[in-house]
Amino acid sequence: MQNRLSRIIKPKSGHCVMLAIDHGYFGNIPGQLKCFGDLNPLFEYADALMLTRGMLRSCVDPNIDVPIVLRVSAGASMLKELSNEEINVTIEDAIRLNVSAITCSIFVGGEYEKQSLMNLSKLVNWGQEYGIPTLAVTAVGREMVRDDRYLGMASRMAAEMGSTFVKTYYCDNFENVTSICPVPIVIAGGKKTPEKDALQMARNAIDKGAVGVDMGRNIFQSDKPIGMIKAVRSIVHENASVDDAFEIYKQGPIGL
Ligand code: 5RP
Repeated sequence: MQNRLSRIIKPKSGHCVMLAIDHGYFGNIPGQLKCFGDLNPLFEYADALMLTRGMLRSCVDPNIDVPIVLRVSAGASMLKELSNEEINVTIEDAIRLNVSAITCSIFVGGEYEKQSLMNLSKLVNWGQEYGIPTLAVTAVGREMVRDDRYLGMASRMAAEMGSTFVKTYYCDNFENVTSICPVPIVIAGGKKTPEKDALQMARNAIDKGAVGVDMGRNIFQSDKPIGMIKAVRSIVHENASVDDAFEIYKQGPIGL
């Protein structure tokens, strides 16, 4: 378990930059994900890829040595009730795909809250049996307010249920989220924002106790995706300032 986790959260810095490219599993397909294979140039800069097994099989060169955090949940599209998820991948297939962690979403306060929490329990039990870390994604429902009280509660619940690490959203007073969660937290990037704002969010998250980011759209929708992921890495792994990281972003090539 620790060996697999240390492939994702690097022992040298204690931090990680994951690239999230699992959006399509519920029908959220940003333009850049239409040609998913084109994202391959980014992979060497990621400490891990978070994605689904279909995309892993069809779009990731198996010769690339990048740890995989495999989303093993699915169920409803964004046209329906997203919290109505179940586990759709067997542990045998996850092992066969040589993944470093397995992940699903929990919808605390959502319509199918209990079902999603039982999904997580299933993954934790599998993880314990086979030594595979579990990442709980604290996805929020349409009605949920993404404040520190809600995200702190959801993250703590995930940790109490045995999650190895937790993915949640950044919010004001984020220290109230990290301080009550006994396992490492990575933040989601969220919708595309100006690069400097995304870098500032990464900086704030690290300063307030996150171990890293699991960022998607703010990297692959950037005009300079390689510059952007390098800039995020400089903050997460090298403690760079936002201004220094922004310079790294600006020096990146346009497109992929
Ligand atoms: C949604 C997820 C996604 O991986 C994640 O939110 C996508 O990354 P980003 O928001 O940075 O584009 O887990 O539940």
